[in-house]
Amino acid sequence: MLAQLKESLAAQISTIAGVSALDIQKALEVPKNYDHGHLSWPLFNLAKNLKQNPQSLTFDMKLKIESLQLKELFSVETLGGFLNFKFKPQALAKALFLNLESGSSLSKNQIGNQQTVVIDYSSPNVAKKMHVGHLRGTIIGQAIVNLHKACGFKVVGLNHLGDWGTQFGKLAWSIENWGPELGEKLWTINGLLELYVKFHDESEKNPELEGLASAEFLKLEKGDAKLTAVWKKIIEVSMIDYNRIYEILNVSHDQVIGESFYNQHLQGVVDLLKNKNLLQTSEGAQVVMFDETEKLPPCLIQKSDGASLYATRDLASAIYRHDVLKGDQLIYIVGAEQTLHFRQVFKVLDLCGFSWAKDCHHISHGLYRFKEGKMSTRKGRVIHLEDVLDTAVELITEVMKEKRPELLHQKLIIQKIAIGAVIFNDLMNDRSKNVEFDWDRAISTEGDSGPYVQYMAVRCKSILKKRPMFAPASIDFQSDWNDSETKLIYSLLQFQEVVKASCTQFKPNLLAQYLLQVCTEFSHFYHLNRVLDEPIEIEKRRLSLVFLTQAVLVEGLGLLGIDSPDAM
Ligand code: ARG
Repeated sequence: MLAQLKESLAAQISTIAGVSALDIQKALEVPKNYDHGHLSWPLFNLAKNLKQNPQSLTFDMKLKIESLQLKELFSVETLGGFLNFKFKPQALAKALFLNLESGSSLSKNQIGNQQTVVIDYSSPNVAKKMHVGHLRGTIIGQAIVNLHKACGFKVVGLNHLGDWGTQFGKLAWSIENWGPELGEKLWTINGLLELYVKFHDESEKNPELEGLASAEFLKLEKGDAKLTAVWKKIIEVSMIDYNRIYEILNVSHDQVIGESFYNQHLQGVVDLLKNKNLLQTSEGAQVVMFDETEKLPPCLIQKSDGASLYATRDLASAIYRHDVLKGDQLIYIVGAEQTLHFRQVFKVLDLCGFSWAKDCHHISHGLYRFKEGKMSTRKGRVIHLEDVLDTAVELITEVMKEKRPELLHQKLIIQKIAIGAVIFNDLMNDRSKNVEFDWDRAISTEGDSGPYVQYMAVRCKSILKKRPMFAPASIDFQSDWNDSETKLIYSLLQFQEVVKASCTQFKPNLLAQYLLQVCTEFSHFYHLNRVLDEPIEIEKRRLSLVFLTQAVLVEGLGLLGIDSPDAM
């Protein structure tokens, strides 16, 4: 892999360059332009430290390194303040194939050093169907969980279920009064949703309902047995719906700890803030005020009637995640609309004197945009997650009818492609930006889509099927690799580095874009080279590239939460 290549180059040039091998290794990067070389060493910082002109330093270094006559190097060139290294194809091939045990993971590494990260993602609000707004957090979150697991972190994937709040008063009141009208439908997610919408409509006409609902919630907060049973049932019904969707999306949390769990810890939070002299009374409520320089509105901790708030529960849960779950880093994958909330919560933790407040990160994301504009949960005008998934299945079925009618009965394959299309369409974008939902592009098998990457993996698999006895062992590195083979090798070499960067920067799009790049290189390679029925050594080395391409694509898609079908 690329890391070994960096390590060995750095070790060999360290003495003559007068820079520690580790520093060189860290500084080496992949040049933006392939024609500039395989690795690039920017010398600007070093030049600054040595009070030298970067250009002349680069030139000096080039001569020194050339004098070493390293056998794996093809050339060392200077470009501005950069030193660009080009390797011989044999050296790249050796780095790719050495230590390759068949069947072993190509992305697995240990940069996490067994640190624990607690990752909060998806976290829907119970009694509502998951709408499309939850899709991003759920998909991005699972990818970030998978990436951290591959990078040797201990991961606790958390579903911080929104299972507490005044909406339960509304629902309980509606169930009591209108539930029987719904008959069997009552205890289904659709039944609950219908009641929720009805309550919203009716309370606009009759504002008194709000008061009645609040009274119900107060009873629930006091532990009323009948209401507690209703509340539990609401959660159960919701979880059945969520779990069904999680299964379709390859999502699984390590723990589900709803907001209600922290009710027992809320007084502790209030006491702590009091002891630290952080609480102030404002219009009857308890708040934490911030320094003017923070430019943050006060954080509401307790309402005048004593009720707790979203932030209070998040404070309690952060302390729990750090103290009990032993999180070294607390990660929150939540939409950008909650940025202010998390800034307030993290600042309050900081004011409490918790040094780990700096290890709390809100990893925010933008929205989906369909042609109709931003989606709304109010008045039932919701685009449900399932609508999106169903549409994807319908569209893929249409395509298959035309292109591969023989696969139409393979429902599982169609589902894998459809879900792959939706997930990839999301993850290929920078998460902080909004995602335009362009269905034609999302399902296209011709470029920049999940189905395109899946299709490339299937092509590789079908080539390999023709040589069932082939195993990628004892490849002769010293072959005369041609340009398109070399480019593919170089691209495959980068897999693990890209996984590491995707993980530490919380950017699944780096991996998604990389997979597209591997597909492009593979297409070139396949277009220009015959793989099968060539002299045995050539067939073998080309098959090994097909094998690795397939392995990288399947493993890479898997990290993004996307299955690879065996046929399409
Ligand atoms: N339930 C919230 C919502 O759907 C998201 C919760 C995010 N996590 C957290 N710890 N606040 O808006």
